[in-house]
Amino acid sequence: MKAYELASGVLRALSEAKEARGMISVVNAHVSGISYMNLGDYGLEFLEDLAATGERVRVPTSSNPCGMDRELWREQGISEDFAAKQARVNAALEKMGIAPTYSCTFPYEGQWSSKLKPGDHVAWAESSAVVYGNSVLGLRSNREGGPSALFSGITGLTPNYGMHLDENRKPTVLIKVEQPIPRGPLEWGLLGKKIAELGEKAKVPYIYGLGRTATKGELKALSAALATFGPTDMFLAPYISPEASKEPPKLEEVTIDGRELEEQSREALDKAVSGETPKAFFLGCPQYGVEELVYIARLLSDVKKVKGDIFIYTSRHALSDQAGFQAVNSLREKGVKVFRDTCPVFSPAPSFSGGVMTDSVKSSFYMPQSKSIRPTLEPTVVSFMLASGELEGKRLTTYVGKAVVAGTAFGEAIVSYKPLSFLGGINPSTGIVIDEESELKGESVKGKVLVYPTGKGSTVGSYIIYAMKKMGTSPAAIIMREADTVTIIGCVLAGIPLVHRVNPDPLEIKAGSMVRVADGTIEVTDR
Ligand code: F3S
Repeated sequence: MKAYELASGVLRALSEAKEARGMISVVNAHVSGISYMNLGDYGLEFLEDLAATGERVRVPTSSNPCGMDRELWREQGISEDFAAKQARVNAALEKMGIAPTYSCTFPYEGQWSSKLKPGDHVAWAESSAVVYGNSVLGLRSNREGGPSALFSGITGLTPNYGMHLDENRKPTVLIKVEQPIPRGPLEWGLLGKKIAELGEKAKVPYIYGLGRTATKGELKALSAALATFGPTDMFLAPYISPEASKEPPKLEEVTIDGRELEEQSREALDKAVSGETPKAFFLGCPQYGVEELVYIARLLSDVKKVKGDIFIYTSRHALSDQAGFQAVNSLREKGVKVFRDTCPVFSPAPSFSGGVMTDSVKSSFYMPQSKSIRPTLEPTVVSFMLASGELEGKRLTTYVGKAVVAGTAFGEAIVSYKPLSFLGGINPSTGIVIDEESELKGESVKGKVLVYPTGKGSTVGSYIIYAMKKMGTSPAAIIMREADTVTIIGCVLAGIPLVHRVNPDPLEIKAGSMVRVADGTIEVTDR
């Protein structure tokens, strides 16, 4: 077999079938379908024959999750035979020069992603990454098949059709999301499913009403669900998509009620809690990134050993980050099973008995097919863990206030009982409080939910808040008794969720509690 001829022949056939406008160069490629579970012996032989030709990829090419954690496969309950076959698949890919990333989030979260810029053409075969790349990063990729992305890696080319062309990136329907803004991966996943089920007209939905502060986890969940349930390879949303207009286009309009999504997720929890106590809990579809790992580690920081089987799937690039590495170490010490290189859908089922839960709409669709287990969806990790007794002795308190800047965020609470000034009170480069009179002096507000009564000091504070957001040192959200103009303007400019006029008094929130802000609703898990 001549690999290059085969690759270019197949791409040519695809190009003719799609009436493409010739071929274009791609910056990188991402291959999928590489779990031995899907490939079987024929697929394995095909890859080994291809690798035996000595052909190597011409553009950087990364790999999707395979069927096992390459080091901890025994802990995963993988058989010797499966592990040996998967190792042969991986060896064939690596012989062709494909990077051993084994991650579905690597294309947009991994080390190569910082070099990508809007308008770059890529050939990715992971559908959730395709939607994320087209929509959030402004890249151009069709939803490649596993082999076509491999052939693009070998040739450095892809047929120029579909999402590579301007005319196919225009919105096809206007989706209006009515308040409240969905929160958490489940609600964003349910939203994606609802939109995707509109079918062809949702080829490029313009989604209006999502606010400005979606978390990466929420965008990943939306992208994954859109691709799982419909033909959508791209969405457009103001403040999220570089190509989205700020004003909604005049198109057929479909309204989705945020309350319905909320209700659906509540129902899911009620069902799960009233049924059999869940024994296994699957997190990480798409694979968890640093932000999500740190969140779970903080949430379980006071738990000595978890009671149920909690499986988290993540990536090597998330573990190469110091915060991600520390979070994973602490989770493993508590008995959480954290695996890399693989995922809940593409690895054989681990053995456990009892109910199964997940926060991923995508894995709830694929797991029954791949593993004959039907997981229950759960709304938020906190609510599940409280309901299932994992966070025994903790209390979930809900505060309600007025959202000045709507949005969702989570983080550890940091509480100042005195008014704060951003100018002169906080070092913007580090996020550390420097105000001599503040009880928080020396503590960092970076990534935390900052609670304080009201503002003080210079009006320049608005710019400081904006600059902190740009530098990555700002709080994740701000909760105040009464927001002052300086903080309001700063948060509006920076897109930092801000809630005030809160009931009960927000200063009752204890420092160190885990706080989730979703518009005007604040969920606090005491530590
Ligand atoms: Fe990723 Fe596997 Fe889900 S590839 S998106 S974790 S099904």
